[in-house]
Amino acid sequence: MAKIKKINHVAVVVDDMEKSLAFWQDALGLEMAELRDVPAESAQIAFLPVSGSEVELVRPTTTDSGLAKYLAKKGAGMHHICLEVDNIDEMMVQLKEKNIRLINDAPKTAADGKKYAFIHPESTGGVLVELYQF
Ligand code: CO
Repeated sequence: MAKIKKINHVAVVVDDMEKSLAFWQDALGLEMAELRDVPAESAQIAFLPVSGSEVELVRPTTTDSGLAKYLAKKGAGMHHICLEVDNIDEMMVQLKEKNIRLINDAPKTAADGKKYAFIHPESTGGVLVELYQF
């Protein structure tokens, strides 16, 4: 049975990075580890570590990505929570057996080798859930 290890990150979709950082960085006092352009995801992402987890501020850089459409439709706010799992393949089999609706049928592999997949909010009580395995 696959096991969830920790919350890896919480992702917030933003339309104005400077304004968001004024809260998360300046007002809360979180330190930004990196502000990165991720062309593969058509996004700019600010990484703010918090005790082994991270807050990620994600700003779409095009208007046609899934994220950009999400922002246009729902506005800025919570986007997803990412849970780290020890065996993502096993977890996805478990979820399918329980009729949980998955967005990705099989895990995808990122450029850095990490495997990830998304679970549909319909099955989670309204929250988009990402799974990570390093
Ligand atoms: Co994520």
